[in-house]
Amino acid sequence: MAIVTIPEKGIRIEAYEEAREFLASYGIVYATWGKDRVDGDSATPDEILSAYAGEIEELKRDGGYTTADVIDMRPDTPGIESMLEKFRKEHTHSEDEVRYTVKGRGIFHVHSNGGDVISIEVHEGDLISIPRGTRHWFNLCGEKRIRAIRLFQDRSGWTPHYTDSGIDSLHQPVCLGPYYFQVSETRR
Ligand SMILES: [Fe+2]
Repeated sequence: MAIVTIPEKGIRIEAYEEAREFLASYGIVYATWGKDRVDGDSATPDEILSAYAGEIEELKRDGGYTTADVIDMRPDTPGIESMLEKFRKEHTHSEDEVRYTVKGRGIFHVHSNGGDVISIEVHEGDLISIPRGTRHWFNLCGEKRIRAIRLFQDRSGWTPHYTDSGIDSLHQPVCLGPYYFQVSETRR
């Protein structure tokens, strides 16, 4: 389950329905899909996409998404630091950012039009959709592990448009939830 916080306002929400309604008031879609359909570490991208084919098809139908893929980030992923560097600065996209976390965790920050900066720590089983044009950024937690399904309306839309506001540096990610990361034998 996600953990939603606005530290400046003393807000911390972990209950699913409350988090869903709170995020909806900012235009953010939050839902949970069934966990444990696949082993998030060993399953192939195709196995993951088939395990969630029903939900993916529904999102595609409702949101106009045309493709889905699986992103896999580990501490030893080549170029991980430069990828994280791209994600961690405030930016917008011309299409929605839709992510379903299969394994690991990470933190989205959303900078609302009203000025609030909302921190959303996503975990396995969490789906989040940040509407196009919304200012946001993303960090991994210390273990640097996430595997997530991404949906795209048009891949070119995912290009980040940086705001260069510097606000991201004022909201460092604080990961609060439990985390269990088994490094597989083959990667040791
Ligand atoms: Fe983004």
